[in-house]
Amino acid sequence: MPQNTLTITDNRTGQSYSLPVENGTIRAMDLRKIKTGPEDFGLMTYDPAFMNTASCRSAVTFIDGDKGILRYRGYPIEALAEHCTFLEVAYLLLFGDLPSDAQLKDWVNEITHHTMLHESTKKFMEGFRHDAHPMAMFVSTVAALSGVYADSRNIHDAANRLHQIKRLIGKVPSIAAMSYRHSVGYPYVYPDNDLTYPENFMNMLWKMVEPKYVANPAIARALDILFILHADHEQNCSANAMRAVGSSQTDPYLATAAAAAALAGPLHGGANEEVLRMLDVIGTKQNIPAYIEKVKEGKFKLMGFGHRVYKNYDPRAKIIKWTADRVFEVTGHNAKLEIALELERIALQDEYFVQRKLYPNVDFYSGIIYQAMGFRPEMFTVLFAIPRTAGWLAQWQEMLTDPEQKIARPRQVWIGHETREFVPIDQRRELVAGR
Ligand SMILES: CC(C)(COP(=O)(O)OP(=O)(O)OC[C@H]1O[C@@H](n2cnc3c(N)ncnc32)[C@H](O)[C@@H]1OP(=O)(O)O)[C@@H](O)C(=O)NCCC(=O)NCCS
Repeated sequence: MPQNTLTITDNRTGQSYSLPVENGTIRAMDLRKIKTGPEDFGLMTYDPAFMNTASCRSAVTFIDGDKGILRYRGYPIEALAEHCTFLEVAYLLLFGDLPSDAQLKDWVNEITHHTMLHESTKKFMEGFRHDAHPMAMFVSTVAALSGVYADSRNIHDAANRLHQIKRLIGKVPSIAAMSYRHSVGYPYVYPDNDLTYPENFMNMLWKMVEPKYVANPAIARALDILFILHADHEQNCSANAMRAVGSSQTDPYLATAAAAAALAGPLHGGANEEVLRMLDVIGTKQNIPAYIEKVKEGKFKLMGFGHRVYKNYDPRAKIIKWTADRVFEVTGHNAKLEIALELERIALQDEYFVQRKLYPNVDFYSGIIYQAMGFRPEMFTVLFAIPRTAGWLAQWQEMLTDPEQKIARPRQVWIGHETREFVPIDQRRELVAGR
């Protein structure tokens, strides 16, 4: 019997099948030949929420959730966070290798020269209500760029793709900053090409009447580290949206907007906003045990805890904790951090969380840092979307250049009616109450 195969016996027919096993997977299409007869469609797998289905072969980001390992293109996240800038990491994600000094200078220069937005984008932004959620503005404005850059539809041309990638990475901080300034009623600030990527973002957010914005270096570095930690995360909900939408060969602005829309949900990028709300509800350390009891009763979840993949401490959460200390040296003591630390301490000893392997994830501390830096909770997911754009684009490129990929189109298990006889409207009864 050949090794690296799986033998399946179909008890319905008594037939045996030998399927190749490669990289710990069998090909779902190999199951199709398992049939009860010529009329049978063939066996499929049923996997709601993709709990155990690989949808692609990827070389971008590696996670070992049990061991708490995260690597971009083979490099541990800890080393990248310590030694690199976000743009260096974006280059790594997109091109597969760390840039040389000359390559990095060139890359930074190119991204810097793509930070301006078309003036019509300002008018577009002004159309939003003053209290529109910044994520709604971000998603819509990224999608609107599709209307500005018609050439972006030529996704099969590698040079063109790269051009759009540079535009997107350059412009997302500008869009993010504009959505913030709009929500507080301040005039938009144009990019300053003398500044680094995080400094320029801070400039577009917070510059008031001073002739030149000067960023606090500790805050700028902390922001850059947070960008590195959020740059990619394997086949998560938004990366999957990017690939699925991109697989129809839509342009990268629309695909990125779709990915950002997926990120906006509270179970994904919206979680850090929820963590802060939760810490506000808890209020003081004394209220933590009672709150944890309610979580255990299933009344609500402990936001910022648990992960589909990590069943160990999220490595990003460790780095964030370290970064938080650097930020608080500048911004001063933070009462929310005290509550969060205590919440983590109590939860990590509790049987409910231990048994389910629920550990703090990246969102548990990031919101606290963002708030200390001066961001309102509504901005948190937008801050996540800026660096994740690089990851989405790396996933998108990989998908487009993978000869095995096609338009994404899952199967379904039909549980509805067989053919029904049509009923004219005057003969229909109301079958579903209240509808
Ligand atoms: C991230 C998340 C969506 C992963 O969900 P998942 O992989 O589908 O895990 P499940 O929902 O199956 O959870 C498994 C068990 O742990 C419990 N659980 C998961 N996350 C929990 C949390 N944050 N608080 C309390 N219980 C939690 C579930 O209720 C379930 O318990 P059960 O077996 O008694 O039913 C989930 O952990 C969550 O909602 N966390 C809070 C939101 C958050 O922080 N998201 C950011 C992710 S980076």
